[in-house]
Amino acid sequence: MKIAIASDHGGYALKEYLKQHLTKRGFTVLDLGTDSEESVDYPAFGRACGEAVAEGRADRGLVCCGTGIGISIAANKVRGVRCAVCTNAFMAEMCARHNDANIIALGGRILSGETAAALTDLWLDTPFEGGRHKRRVDALNDM
Ligand code: RB5
Repeated sequence: MKIAIASDHGGYALKEYLKQHLTKRGFTVLDLGTDSEESVDYPAFGRACGEAVAEGRADRGLVCCGTGIGISIAANKVRGVRCAVCTNAFMAEMCARHNDANIIALGGRILSGETAAALTDLWLDTPFEGGRHKRRVDALNDM
């Protein structure tokens, strides 16, 4: 599975940490930047990750900014993206189980690397439940 990752400066350190974590787990990582802690604007990076997933260049996406909020808003502007900001284990599990989130957004100024890696694993390892949730996800996809 290929995972596209992107961040702004506020999420850069967390992105680098999670890149190593995903690589160790055997995933192929497509790093769309940013490449340092120099200040950049998160919309371009959220969009780049969203487009990579929506166009099928990656199977899933992971985005980081200071809170995860701004870059998630940007990713969600791309048709076909279901990007979920997660700050705890319940959110990470449910965004996979009920929302079939294809991108997770994590805050570099909120989460430790270890916690963010655990949330990422939960999201990746939890299957979508389908059933009544598929109807809702289909409605999201039609918007
Ligand atoms: C950048 O300072 C910060 O606003 C950004 O990383 C993010 O938290 C926005 O949602």
